[in-house]
Amino acid sequence: MTLSKPTARQAVLREADAEAGRQLNTLTGWNRFIDGPPAPPALASRSAWQQMPVSERDLYDEDRLDHHARMLTIATSFVEKTAICGRRLVLLNRHAISARRGLIVSGPAGTGKTIAITQLGRSHELLDRARHPHVTDRIPVVYVTVPPAATARMIATEFARFLGLPVRARSNMTDIIEAVVGVCTDTRTGLVLVDELHNISLTSRHGAEVADTLKYFSERLPATFIYAGIDIAESSLLSGTRGAQIAGRFTVIPSRPFPYNSEWKGLVATMEDTLRLHDHRPGTLTSLDRFLHDHTGGMIGSLSHAIRGAALDAILTGTEKITKKSLQAIPLDHTARTTASMATKTAACR
Ligand SMILES: Nc1ncnc2c1ncn2[C@@H]1O[C@H](COP(=O)(O)OP(=O)(O)O)[C@@H](O)[C@H]1O
Ligand SMILES: [Mg+2]
Repeated sequence: MTLSKPTARQAVLREADAEAGRQLNTLTGWNRFIDGPPAPPALASRSAWQQMPVSERDLYDEDRLDHHARMLTIATSFVEKTAICGRRLVLLNRHAISARRGLIVSGPAGTGKTIAITQLGRSHELLDRARHPHVTDRIPVVYVTVPPAATARMIATEFARFLGLPVRARSNMTDIIEAVVGVCTDTRTGLVLVDELHNISLTSRHGAEVADTLKYFSERLPATFIYAGIDIAESSLLSGTRGAQIAGRFTVIPSRPFPYNSEWKGLVATMEDTLRLHDHRPGTLTSLDRFLHDHTGGMIGSLSHAIRGAALDAILTGTEKITKKSLQAIPLDHTARTTASMATKTAACR
């Protein structure tokens, strides 16, 4: 039985994260994302909760597990900066005749890059819908991810897949690209989000071809391109002749671990506010914000993972609260642990 709790928690978290990934890669999923998550469940009174028949309680707990597995998106300063910068570029590009400008969001894994660019996409889409009510044939935003070891054909296929265009084994690259450009033009795509750009390596032939394909799309589509990936600002993508062309036209927004400051404290407090646990004493997490910062190295992804994981455990085991110990029981990913241990070492050197 000792195995069942972490396994169940991992399964719920994995499912929520996979759903988030699946959601965005296709138009159907993207539209579901635009509609927003379901409203957080209300916490029943203690007596009502204790008197619930088993089947009702199972459903109630299921809703709460689902809620804690996904949790809400917080408008951090990074999310806001990305939104403002992206919006500015969209406006500037609207009247640009030649080279349009773009945005690169670059930084370590788990620093909120995907969240920031998809939130930018969401606000662009909502604005477009508000401007064109009753119009259903617009696809204002396209979101694609660069697959590992991508070839040019694979990236073109990703665009087609998002749009729901059939790609046959016989389709050649030109057919796919023309179909994508045709649909995006007709549906007035104004923003193209390309995530996981670090999967391109310009030192390989395939990588250079993928970069050329993206460049070609950006020339053919009257849209603003937003790229995100792990440490791409420092990579070969922006160096060399090919890179310099990109670098000159793109604004770079670096994503970083949070320093321990009032924004971090606010982040922890906001996450704590969203908990729907019966025995959780409000203020427990905020009083642990220093510990949480050391523990996660200031990575928002790890903070979210630790709190979501501990919240799931609290429901699955019936403790109904989060403690320092239960947070420590959640294994964090490699980056956070390295950053945290580096922070400890740096602190030790001082
Ligand atoms: N603004 C935010 N509000 C709430 N959670 C966030 C936010 N940004 C990031 N996260 C959490 O961090 C995790 C990693 O973020 P993500 O954007 O996928 O990072 P990256 O793309 O940099 O690897 C997300 O799954 C989410 O749980
Ligand atoms: Mg990402």
